Amino acid sequence: MGNIRIALTKGRLEKDAISIFDGIGIDTNELKNKGRKLILKSENYPVEFVLAKAQDVITYVEHGVVDMGIVGKDTILENNPDFYEVVDLNKGKCFFALASLESFSTLPSYKRKVIATKYPKVAHDYFREKGEDVEIIKIEGSVELAPILGLADAIVDIVETGTTLKENGLIIFDKICDISARLIVNKASMKMKKNLVLDLVDKIEKFLLLSEGEVKND
Ligand code: PRP
Repeated sequence: MGNIRIALTKGRLEKDAISIFDGIGIDTNELKNKGRKLILKSENYPVEFVLAKAQDVITYVEHGVVDMGIVGKDTILENNPDFYEVVDLNKGKCFFALASLESFSTLPSYKRKVIATKYPKVAHDYFREKGEDVEIIKIEGSVELAPILGLADAIVDIVETGTTLKENGLIIFDKICDISARLIVNKASMKMKKNLVLDLVDKIEKFLLLSEGEVKND
């Protein structure tokens, strides 16, 4: 039997992803105690894990060097995906928002608005839908700084708890869309390794249903 390779997004989604594989009975010891190792095996299931940055998870899945991946919908929306998005894992929930200082106005003005974001495509799509032409400046992190420093009129960014906005005197002007972690599958793997892939998808879906039920019954 062949192996399934799965790329997990490092950081915020890492723990949630590992808990899902724990939940379906896949040994994740090597993954949890990885040290500097980059390919992590399971003792009891034909699966190998790699940990990667969100954008790289998508690159690996698209190129078929891994069969599956767990990545946020934010990164999926920022790409033109060429893979299957099969399960909404309901983890890592947050949302995209348009935010700025209180003095900002969403009303169209004669001056083209400047929007700072880590997600230029998401920002572009949002304003295109509104029929508004804006200038988009790509920022790599702490996007909240941009309106404070006077670089941008507003930002399009991820909001999770809202703490970063609050602590920096920014408010939400519009909620753009919800985000959560998704399970994605390479198109060829879905054909060539159908049984292994669908078996895993099935186990994960059942586990999620069960744990949602438990949460509701609490
Ligand atoms: C994200 C996002 C916000 C923050 C929102 O940034 O870009 O800055 O989290 O979270 P909150 O609503 O719970 O405060 P991240 O921490 O990933 O780092 P970055 O700003 O360096 O990109």
